[in-house]
Amino acid sequence: MAEAQRSTSFDAVADCYDRTRALPDDAARTFTEALAAELTGRGRCLEIGVGTGRIALPLARRELPMAGVDLSAPMLSRLVRNAGGRAPFPLARADVAALPFGPGRFGAALAVHVLHLVPQWRRAVAELVRVVRPSGLLLVDAGGASQGVQDAVGARFAAEADLPDYPGMRDAEELDGLLEARGARRRLLAPVRVEQHRSPESVIAELEAGIFSRTWTVTPETRRRAAAATRGWAADALGDLAAPRTVIEEIVVRAYDLPG
Ligand SMILES: C[S@@+](CC[C@H](N)C(=O)[O-])C[C@H]1O[C@@H](n2cnc3c(N)ncnc32)[C@H](O)[C@@H]1O
Repeated sequence: MAEAQRSTSFDAVADCYDRTRALPDDAARTFTEALAAELTGRGRCLEIGVGTGRIALPLARRELPMAGVDLSAPMLSRLVRNAGGRAPFPLARADVAALPFGPGRFGAALAVHVLHLVPQWRRAVAELVRVVRPSGLLLVDAGGASQGVQDAVGARFAAEADLPDYPGMRDAEELDGLLEARGARRRLLAPVRVEQHRSPESVIAELEAGIFSRTWTVTPETRRRAAAATRGWAADALGDLAAPRTVIEEIVVRAYDLPG
């Protein structure tokens, strides 16, 4: 469990996770459809870091056989509540770097917003290759390109608070290299465009409140100080802090076809 202890725990945000990470309905639908098109007919798909089921539940509702693991019991409890009070598919509390499954158990696996959190992410990738059968599929959302007020404010806040980088995967090309070395063929799925409207103040307030995992390594006092400094900077650099701006993000899923 030593590696698990160094991973980022989401226990404290289980109750606000869905509210603060929800995609707009149209983007969520497009994302689910793109994943479902890849997963249909492949057998059971394991989502690692399944969390509250934000991604897996809509897939399960489309009759795709899913399974999930997560380190956080509160996140898994929330998933069960989101599903109406009963586990909608097999769930296990486990570390992605030591999956409690035999070789070739799944037809596919899915990792969304998780490998950047895991110090042992290379071991987690080896685990995915082990538990997915030959000719199976891995789908990884390694974070998309975004632009606009969210990035500018986030970067300023990170500098003011001296936030460390995420503890896990930083470079999706390293992931490509690892999997290609194991004989996988990489494809990029069509980007899913996400358009949201955010004011600088709403972004700063969320960073100050410690909603996002990158801010969890610093104290509330550091977050308050960084938020005050970021507000001062943003008033000069961006103008009206309360006025919503358009934020565009593109989610790019990497698909890896495993060798037979
Ligand atoms: C950002 S959330 C993503 C949840 C879900 N995939 C989604 O997109 O909504 C990351 C999840 O990974 C879990 N997690 C982090 N490190 C983990 C590890 N080493 N093993 C298993 N789960 C882990 C956290 O508990 C959390 O539920």
